[in-house]
Order: sequence, then structure tokens, then C-alpha cells
Amino acid sequence: MKRRTFLALSSVAALYLAARYMRSGGGMGMMSGGGMMGGGSSSLPPGGIKIKDLPIPALLKPVERNGVQHYDLQIQRAEHDFFKDMMTKTFAINGTYLGPTLLMKNGDHVSVNYQNRLGELITMHGHGMHLPSRMDGTVHQPIQDGENWSAVYMVKQRACTNWYHPHTLNNTAEQVYKGLAGLIIIEDEESRRLDLPKRYGIDDIPLVLQDRLFAHGQIDYSPSMPQRMHGYVGDIPLANGAIEPTLDVEAKEIRFRILNGSNASIYELGFSDERSFHQIATDNAFLEYPVKITEVTLSPAERAEIVIDLTKDYGRSLVLRDRRSGKQFLTIRITKMATAQTLLPQKLTTLEKPLVSQAQYRRRFVLSGMMGRFTINGKGMDPDRIDEHVPLNRLEIWEVENNMMIDHNFHIHATHFIPIARNGSMENLAENERGYKDVILVPANETVSFLVKMTDYADVRIPYMYHCHFLEHEDAGMMGQFIVS
Ligand code: C2O
Ligand code: CU
Ligand code: CU
Repeated sequence: MKRRTFLALSSVAALYLAARYMRSGGGMGMMSGGGMMGGGSSSLPPGGIKIKDLPIPALLKPVERNGVQHYDLQIQRAEHDFFKDMMTKTFAINGTYLGPTLLMKNGDHVSVNYQNRLGELITMHGHGMHLPSRMDGTVHQPIQDGENWSAVYMVKQRACTNWYHPHTLNNTAEQVYKGLAGLIIIEDEESRRLDLPKRYGIDDIPLVLQDRLFAHGQIDYSPSMPQRMHGYVGDIPLANGAIEPTLDVEAKEIRFRILNGSNASIYELGFSDERSFHQIATDNAFLEYPVKITEVTLSPAERAEIVIDLTKDYGRSLVLRDRRSGKQFLTIRITKMATAQTLLPQKLTTLEKPLVSQAQYRRRFVLSGMMGRFTINGKGMDPDRIDEHVPLNRLEIWEVENNMMIDHNFHIHATHFIPIARNGSMENLAENERGYKDVILVPANETVSFLVKMTDYADVRIPYMYHCHFLEHEDAGMMGQFIVS
């Protein structure tokens, strides 16, 4: 009898969801509300959406061989059940959409072994990882179809949430869109010691947020010229590869490790009851203190770890949503009694923050473009050209100016940076931006500056990249290369 009620409810919910996403003329006669510039709308298969619990990506603990921690990843074609009664063709890592979460410890010697069984060329990049340029997984480390490549390095950075994804020249956007991405969790002494939720999948929840367009149940990557300009934005929200799933949690503090894994959407994330929560980490490290907010803005590739206190919410439910588009990513139901306690620490860490006055050099990057081509300092990406030479251990200010009417962001490989100003003033930086980052939003006609220091891995031959992480822009040339020496 319980089951009957559940079935009835879920088919109502499926119809409701289908009605929200169905293209007019598709039968339900309703359009989705996400009419952002550059957005499109999906047509859904007749069976509608599959009602699901939030999938938790498998936690891939390494296998040790001769003191090296090995992670074996197979990049392959697969089929995934986004919808009822039909399968969707995807790209995937080990499973059927996205990939497992790699658990690493600071100080580990690791080997991330990629086997390319996709049927096309890829490269695989460890986003946020502090590693040698020859292990960076860019255009300079191609993996042909049928071949294997390993990123071998020592983990030498603070606890944080990073990710891995393709970085294939001019073809990153489509490969990510079809499902290639996964999280990397780095632990260190501090993260183990702090009284934070850390039971993976129970109170420490990985959350890869994306949006997609579908045509008849298949992933539709077919950007028009305006969609290449504005970025390819879809109307169907995905959380860990599921459409508007549900998560049942304990009535306690819950930590989310959120990645904006979309190609080109900026999300302003908050909860349906407008409650406040704390951000505890930016891209590459804990913040020094938890920062209390009601909304966190993430541009593509940015991460935020947040802690939300659900101690007094037993029996309630709330929705995690994007305020910009109205997308509802996840329904959280507080249906379980707490089986452990945590208490958010007042102080999380101490960050090494050099003074702006100690900077010895300044670089400028101007983001620009027209007619579907994008440039940095007037140049489109050329793998045979080195754009910048950065000496080891010199503190530099990098200033990034967006002179277009559309938003961009800026990502650097090799290390983190520390934001110091927006539009020339430190006051314009949000409190939760004052930490270690590797991607930062640079809105239309604005300027951002940050401090960087390359501390390791000089290599006069193989460069790292910097680029806009709106993947359509990256693929259309908004990327440059630097040598550390
Ligand atoms: Cu997330 Cu150059 O990459
Ligand atoms: Cu990167
Ligand atoms: Cu861009």
C-alpha cells in the first residue's frame, strides 16, 4: 500500500517535471522559465523524467603498488537513465555519467591512470592540482583512442575539492557536456582534525551541478553562433547526473562540496527558505573562518564547500536552487535522526597571504573577442606559442580585464591565487572570495586582480594554461600558455 502511494506520487511528479521542461508543441504545451540569453529548451521523451535519489559518485580509494597510490579510470561511451523508459547515450568515466570521486591525501605519491576507450582523442586535466606541467593533462599530453596515460605526481597542497575533466584542444566543451568530469577530494592533517561533517555520502555530500539540453532524450550539444558567444546554457538541471533528485539526510550539520560543472552558467545558489549557511572552503583551501551567507555565486569550474545546519529541521524539506534561472537542483529531506554530531569550528585555518606591497611584477590580461572568436591580449590559443614566462618564487599581480559585454571567468593552472581587488578596490571583494582560488568570475566590463606565485615545477619546455572556463569560450580561443622557469 505504501508502494502504491509512492508510485502514484512519483508519476505525478514526473508529469509535473515533464510539463516544466517540455518544449511547447511537445504535448504538454509549457515552456521552461529559464529563458536566459543563450539558453535553449529541451524536448523530453514521452516517459518523462526518472525520479531519483541523489546519486553519490563512488569514492575511489587508491590501490597501492610500490608506495604509489593508483587510481584506474576508463573513459568510455555509456548509456545513462536520465529518463523513464529510455536510455541516453553519454561519455563516462568507469560508470555511466561523470566519474568516481578520487580520494587523495596530502603527501601521497599518486598515479591517476586514464585509459582512453572513447573512440576519440582526449586529454585529462587535474583541475586545481598543484603538479608538474608534464602531468597537467593539457594539449601537450594527448591520449589517443585506445591508449593509456598516467598523471604521476606527489600531492602537495591543502585539503580542498578539485576535479578532473578533459582539456582537449578545441573539443573540451562537448566532451565535458556529454559527461566527462569527476571530483577529487584532498585531505590533510587539518581537514582530518577539524570537527566538520566528513562521512562521505552521509553528511559530506559531493554535488556536481550542471545544466543540459536534451533532444528526444539525447544530450543535445549543438551550439549556434549566439550560444557559442554567450555560452551553451541548458534548461534541465542536473545534480550528480540526476534531474531534480532528492536527498534524505540526518537532522544535523551537513556539508556540501559543490562544483559548478556546467559549461557556461553562473549559479547563485541558495535554499528555498532563504536560510543562511556557512561557506568553509573556496577552490583550493579552507577559508580562515566560516563565512555566513544566504547565497553563493559560482561560475563554471568554481567550487564552494558549505555547511548547513539542519539540526532543528527534522521532518522538513528544502530545495537547493539557482536564483538566477530558477533551476531547482536538489530537494533535501530531513528524515533521519542524527547518528553523529559535529560543531562548526570558529576558526578553520590560517592562510599564507602575502602583502600586495611585496609584489614585484604586474601582468595584464585583456579578455576580448568578436564574431565567435575569443582572445586574451588580442591572441587566440596557439599550442605552439608561449605567451608568458613566469619566474619561480616571484610574487606577481595579475590583472584581468573583461572588455566585453558578456561575462567571463579566469582560471590558472599550476597553483592557486589570492584575489586582491575587483574594479580596483579590495572593498568590492566578497568575504568568501578572500581565500585560495583558481577560478574567478570577471563580469562584463569589469576587472579583477589577484596575487600569484609559482613555487615549484620549473620546466622550460612544457607550459601550463590560463583561460576562461566558459567552455565554449575556451574552445574558441580564450586561452594562453605560460612557462615557469
Ligand atoms: Cu578546469 Cu584548464 O581547466
Ligand atoms: Cu585547470
Ligand atoms: Cu569566457
